[in-house]
Amino acid sequence: MNARLPAIARRAAAEYEDLSQADASFLSVDGLCKYYAARSFRGTRPIKSLDGVTLRIPKGEIMGIVGESGCGKSTLAKVITRLTSATAGQVTLDGRDWLAPRGEALRRRRPEVQLVFQDPYGALDPRMTIGTAMAAPLAAHGIGTTSEDRRARVLAMLAEVGLDASFHDRLPAQCSGGQLQRVVIGRALLLEPQLLVCDEPTSALDASMRTQILNLLMDLRAKRGLTMLMISHDLRVVRYMCDRIAVMYAGKVVELARRDHLFDHPAHPYTRALIASALLERGGIDLTRHLREGEVPSPLNMPEGCRFASRCPYAQDDCTRLEPALKQAGSDHFVRCRHWNTHAAYVPQGD
Ligand SMILES: Nc1ncnc2c1ncn2[C@@H]1O[C@H](COP(=O)(O)OP(=O)(O)OP(=O)(O)O)[C@@H](O)[C@H]1O
Ligand SMILES: [Mg+2]
Repeated sequence: MNARLPAIARRAAAEYEDLSQADASFLSVDGLCKYYAARSFRGTRPIKSLDGVTLRIPKGEIMGIVGESGCGKSTLAKVITRLTSATAGQVTLDGRDWLAPRGEALRRRRPEVQLVFQDPYGALDPRMTIGTAMAAPLAAHGIGTTSEDRRARVLAMLAEVGLDASFHDRLPAQCSGGQLQRVVIGRALLLEPQLLVCDEPTSALDASMRTQILNLLMDLRAKRGLTMLMISHDLRVVRYMCDRIAVMYAGKVVELARRDHLFDHPAHPYTRALIASALLERGGIDLTRHLREGEVPSPLNMPEGCRFASRCPYAQDDCTRLEPALKQAGSDHFVRCRHWNTHAAYVPQGD
């Protein structure tokens, strides 16, 4: 085990190693922590955005990450794409340490992991044509021998993401949001990444566009064998396209399972509340009817025991004192709850 891991990360990683059979993982995240510094007149305190996240993704699979706003989903995306540094923990990509490379070594390896995020308008320079924007990273990474070669690659990629050649010379303002998201996905794929991280890629789009983009991503996965991390607050999105799902709460993964097993046998009370809420709302997350009145813990002041205890309808005395370890709740199914099997008979309902 890596000496750089603080105790919480070491525990998170070790317990998963004990339980997991998923040694064929392509992406391994072990005890990942990201603490931002909050400065105030009382000094500096850590904002624990990620606090010991551990997960595994086998090659060619899509892993969904769900959870309420502020649970750390985008922070996980930023650390995994190396947009921000990790405070502690390990990320291994295809057997190689992914957090170690720096400087020129990192620049060379950057194409391996690409990010698609929510706002395609923000991802593109409004003064640059689509063709120039898509070719620029190719030139920067020395892909393609000549500008003609790069132009041909861009045109082929436009076709692959369902856009005709006329888009090559358009400006972003001359495209719809859905078309721009195709451009952003195409631009990422031109670098032939091994891992595509999508952070709410469809939440700025209307319902029909959303389905088209999700279908495009699934087609690309099938064609290219891409491994993907799909972040969404919408359970329908991850249910539609993911092979496995990790449920996050307050900087931790509280449940991790194959999709069907998660929906058929949710083990964590938080996952059950999410599923019940999605059945009821057919959209956003409104957990008020499914949880005890209580606050989501602040990442500035995480409680000692289970982070979910303040809202858990099944919380017992020990939950507020003892941090729950990850336990096996089925084949390839893990849950971070001390009492999951005593309330497992509960089935979420939509009313
Ligand atoms: N640069 C930063 N500095 C300080 N705190 C940050 C920073 N970025 C994120 N945080 C904090 O980390 C926590 C997790 O944020 P994050 O953006 O990862 O949440 P999220 O799950 O993506 O939420 P959403 O669903 O709203 O996008 C939040 O409490 C947030 O305020
Ligand atoms: Mg986010």
